[in-house]
Amino acid sequence: MNISLRKKIIFLVLSLLVVVTLAASILSTFEIQRYYRERIFNQMVTQLDEVEYLLDTLNLDFRTLTDYDYLARYAQRSGHRLTLIDSLGAVIFDSKVAPDSLSLLENHLTRAEIQMALAKGIGQNERKSATLHQSMFYVAKLHEFEKTHAIKYIRLALPMEEVQVVLRAVRWKIMLGSGIALILMAVVSFLIASRLTYQIHQLSAVAEKIKTGNYDERFDVTGRDEISELADLLNAMLDRIKNDMVQMKKLERMRSQFLGNVSHELRTPIFTLQGYLETLMQNPNAEPKRKFIKSAYRQAARLNNLLTDLIDISRIESGEMQMTFIAFDVHHWLQKMVADVRDIAVEQSIELRLVNDVRENVQVLGDRDRLNQVMSNLLINAVKYNKINGRVEVGYIVRAGKVEIYVSDTGRGIAPEHLSRIFERFYRVDKERSREVGGTGLGLAIVKHIIEAHHSRVFVESEIGVGSRFSFQLPRV
Ligand SMILES: Nc1ncnc2c1ncn2[C@@H]1O[C@H](COP(=O)(O)OP(=O)(O)O)[C@@H](O)[C@H]1O
Ligand SMILES: [Mg+2]
Repeated sequence: MNISLRKKIIFLVLSLLVVVTLAASILSTFEIQRYYRERIFNQMVTQLDEVEYLLDTLNLDFRTLTDYDYLARYAQRSGHRLTLIDSLGAVIFDSKVAPDSLSLLENHLTRAEIQMALAKGIGQNERKSATLHQSMFYVAKLHEFEKTHAIKYIRLALPMEEVQVVLRAVRWKIMLGSGIALILMAVVSFLIASRLTYQIHQLSAVAEKIKTGNYDERFDVTGRDEISELADLLNAMLDRIKNDMVQMKKLERMRSQFLGNVSHELRTPIFTLQGYLETLMQNPNAEPKRKFIKSAYRQAARLNNLLTDLIDISRIESGEMQMTFIAFDVHHWLQKMVADVRDIAVEQSIELRLVNDVRENVQVLGDRDRLNQVMSNLLINAVKYNKINGRVEVGYIVRAGKVEIYVSDTGRGIAPEHLSRIFERFYRVDKERSREVGGTGLGLAIVKHIIEAHHSRVFVESEIGVGSRFSFQLPRV
């Protein structure tokens, strides 16, 4: 199993999570601290207003111990240190200092919060107290009713320690929350990473099997994510490869069959020729018999036909044969084709004619040389596989945008079981007859190839004992 990928994913996700949670908690801590400070400050300002009100209404006298004590207790209860300062900076009252020690305190006019209060009405500062030796948060207010007492500044102070306790608690809560979120997200990322790597592992397990030649294996991944998409794609690819392989094997088989057929076809004429030449060699003085010479010539001609057809077939199948399409007159062309085969037809006592007797001006598009080959193959077949005194009719029918060309004969016909196979190379219904008439079994294969190169098809209808009709279409121009 590919552990390292899972580790990488988890590591990546976790480090991202840590960075994000850290940033989030630091930011929220700062924000919450700021908020708390502000709240404490506001509370202290309210408290200052209250003290101010108290001073104005109660008209306290700090030289009396009772009043001094009264105010000190009040400050104690509110949890603050209260300081009252006159316009020159002398401390008149301090809840944390006894009245007889007040004169020992230094002048408070230089304190930052007092300066700020003088300038703005309210001042604040955070620092270590020179009097109490601990960190304090000070808020001072300029006293508006100067007529009562000599009080110019009222100041409240809160030990920072108390603020810190609250803030520490807040920080802890944030840290705890982030920690829990982090753990939860880590578990989720672990699960996702495991599932992801499990699927990839599954894919590679199947791929391993396919590598060993098991092409029937298929990737099986459920879900609708990219990995299952990939699995589908790979499956489709495998289907293609499998089909292609079947096709390739079939082609391979066909090729070796073809080679076998070719060798077999070549053997008979060569064997016959060899035998004849041997006889001649052994009897150099004997007069060669005409019958022998004729038979040898026939075999040589057959060899020639065979090789010509083989060369054609291989050139067509390798794509070497280039087609050049031109427009030509169908009527004129068929007339010429019929004339070329006339001698052979007469020889076999076959009546051969072009059905369309009135010449129409019909032009078709095609490679004329190749179509000559098609036509002479079809015509010679129609003549040779005919009956004595049979008929062969050639014609054309103009259809929408197309011209159908046909060759029909009153011959022996072809049985349905052979009909689909006569276009195969070397396929012959009657081997003896084919050989007798000089056939190679390649004629219709060549016809089919050429017509297909014209983007058309060869149709054949046949009835045994009645005759056959071969037809194909060419585009009309
Ligand atoms: N017009 C036809 N009538 C009857 N049989 C035919 C006709 N044309 C072709 N065939 C049959 O199809 C076989 C294949 O034809 P073809 O490929 O031209 O080879 P061949 O060289 O034997 O003529 C022939 O051997 C013959 O048996
Ligand atoms: Mg033929």
